[in-house]
Amino acid sequence: MNFHVLTLFPEMVAAAFGTSITGRAMEKGILGLHTVNIRDFSLRGDGRIDDYPYGGGAGMVMQAEPVMRAWESLREELPGRVRVIYLNPQGRVFDQRMAKELALEEDLVFLCGHYEGIDERVLGEIVTDHVSIGDYVLTGGELPVLVMMDAVARMVPGVLSNQESGQSESFQGGLLEYPQYSRPEDWRGKKVPPVLLSGHHANVDRWRREQSILRTLRNRPELLETAVFDKKDRKYMRALASGQAEDEITPDQAVFLSKLLAIMEKS
Ligand code: ADE
Repeated sequence: MNFHVLTLFPEMVAAAFGTSITGRAMEKGILGLHTVNIRDFSLRGDGRIDDYPYGGGAGMVMQAEPVMRAWESLREELPGRVRVIYLNPQGRVFDQRMAKELALEEDLVFLCGHYEGIDERVLGEIVTDHVSIGDYVLTGGELPVLVMMDAVARMVPGVLSNQESGQSESFQGGLLEYPQYSRPEDWRGKKVPPVLLSGHHANVDRWRREQSILRTLRNRPELLETAVFDKKDRKYMRALASGQAEDEITPDQAVFLSKLLAIMEKS
């Protein structure tokens, strides 16, 4: 899979993406990164690509023509229909589902903005998807594009080794991941949960599943509304809600869980 990035800071994108797992995947030829420096398409001798906003206001706007020319330099090498993603806080919020969907593409183009944004007219010409990585404002699109490329890349077959495989992880099945432990068994007086030392795989799986439910309830309760639960899950959730489980939850969490169970039992 090939990522193409239109940016004012190609070295920033290349340095981060060339490191660690994504860097290894590039060496193996599974991933490709191609950056285009928008500044190379400046209309002025000084390399500037920004100008004042019409209508006034603070900050500068990236001009349409350098962005268009940067895109045109890339378009010739790409297949006819390719997604062009513009990173901005007004876009649809990126999530794991979108990462999986984008991983099916052969080529993806990302456009990084700076300053107060990019002239709307060129966005209308070239952008297919407006995407935000969350409800906060960053100084430019380079960090968001790195976040997105990392999340998409690890969904591309061959990028993760078997050991790193993303099969049982957060958001898989709509729940957060269970806690992990490694050696030593006793670290500064804190013990590894005994079930993990038991060698009883079914019990380990059940414990992990329950810890996933518990963590999701504590940190992201809204995710429980769309997750799918079996009989054993519901038994654990009832025990939690009624204070009969080993794990403790707050009274508010118990009320939330009881309501959810009532809805589930009706449907
Ligand atoms: N550019 C600036 N802030 C951003 C955000 N939250 N997501 C995507 N692009 C951005």
